[in-house]
Amino acid sequence: MDSIHLKEQFEEKLGAGGDIRTYFAPGRVNLIGEHTDYNGGHVFPCALTLGIYGAARRREDRVIRFFSGNFTKAGIVETSLDDLVPSKEAGWTNYPKGIVWTLKKRGFEIETGFDFMIWGNIPNGSGLSSSAALEVLTGLMLKDLYGFDSLTMQDLAVIGQYSENNYNGMNCGIMDQFASAMGKENCAIFLDTATLAYEYAPIILKDARIVITNSKVKHSLVSSAYNDRRRECEEALSDLQKVVKINSLGDLNEEEFEAHKDAVQSDVCRRRAKHAVYENQRTIHAVDALKAGNIEEFGRLIDASHVSLRDDYEVSCPEIDTLVDLAHEIPGTIGSRITGGGFGGCTVSIVKNESIPEFIEKVGAAYKEKVGHEAEFYVVDAGEGAHILA
Ligand code: GLA
Repeated sequence: MDSIHLKEQFEEKLGAGGDIRTYFAPGRVNLIGEHTDYNGGHVFPCALTLGIYGAARRREDRVIRFFSGNFTKAGIVETSLDDLVPSKEAGWTNYPKGIVWTLKKRGFEIETGFDFMIWGNIPNGSGLSSSAALEVLTGLMLKDLYGFDSLTMQDLAVIGQYSENNYNGMNCGIMDQFASAMGKENCAIFLDTATLAYEYAPIILKDARIVITNSKVKHSLVSSAYNDRRRECEEALSDLQKVVKINSLGDLNEEEFEAHKDAVQSDVCRRRAKHAVYENQRTIHAVDALKAGNIEEFGRLIDASHVSLRDDYEVSCPEIDTLVDLAHEIPGTIGSRITGGGFGGCTVSIVKNESIPEFIEKVGAAYKEKVGHEAEFYVVDAGEGAHILA
């Protein structure tokens, strides 16, 4: 999708005239560092070249008009700056509305409305962060249209997370919005979520590539199960803080955790905390391994991440475990694990180039046989973070 095409579509749906501007914000895949971002740990995601495109124009009144190229049957959804209350009926428009609401809370008041059309190519419900992309896209659009020049891309990530937590009721960490806002071509972002210090690491996989496999299942109650995990980690942290001086689980290494773990009263919370601590350390080692060109070690850590997410954190599901097991039957698979929030969605695998056709064919056929529906495969590259289209 290019800028010219977007503008044409915009004019067709929302009328011609005015200063129409166009934007893009990507989805993300996390290579390693799962469920660490709300535990003060490290994450290692990259932006994708898949994402959401947007075209927008300011209005003179207080009306906001939305149109989605993905839900064309819904037509134009009209609302106003005076109606910034989340509702079930508002559907996807709750995400952009939440950004307007958040900006207002931060003193970036918008006095006149806008027309906003979006079109995205992130597979629906895949866990590749279409909501974060939409939040960052909206933030960038509003920054540009209304001249909020002081807002940085990092601010837009923080605003997106705040909005998702407080307007949409999903208690997510910063990873997805950060990746969408700050992504860089061919690089993953090594982010310390305790400080937001970050570093770009080139994804050099030698003769291998990143393959995302979409299980095409999304189990219900995902956001409540996610919020439960957060609470369990908070409980473990508060028990540990009685015996060791830490601000977050990310402050502990494996040895320190083992020395103090008995302070955690509940067995479930102890396992959640174990995952958070070990996964954070795995992420740090994985980045070192990648930098050293040790792809095998990088893959081994990815595999270990899956086992921990499956057994200790319990955010996997049978369909995803099937995909990971099938991936390991292909000799060219270097590592494979669940990625994102969990309970369905996608796996991320590092697969040797020469084995990719076999991977897609064999994993695809066996998955269909076992689960009853097809998986989808995307061989991806890391793309740029959100930007204005020329
Ligand atoms: C979701 C959340 C992120 C992160 C991941 C798990 O994608 O939005 O903040 O917690 O789950 O790593």
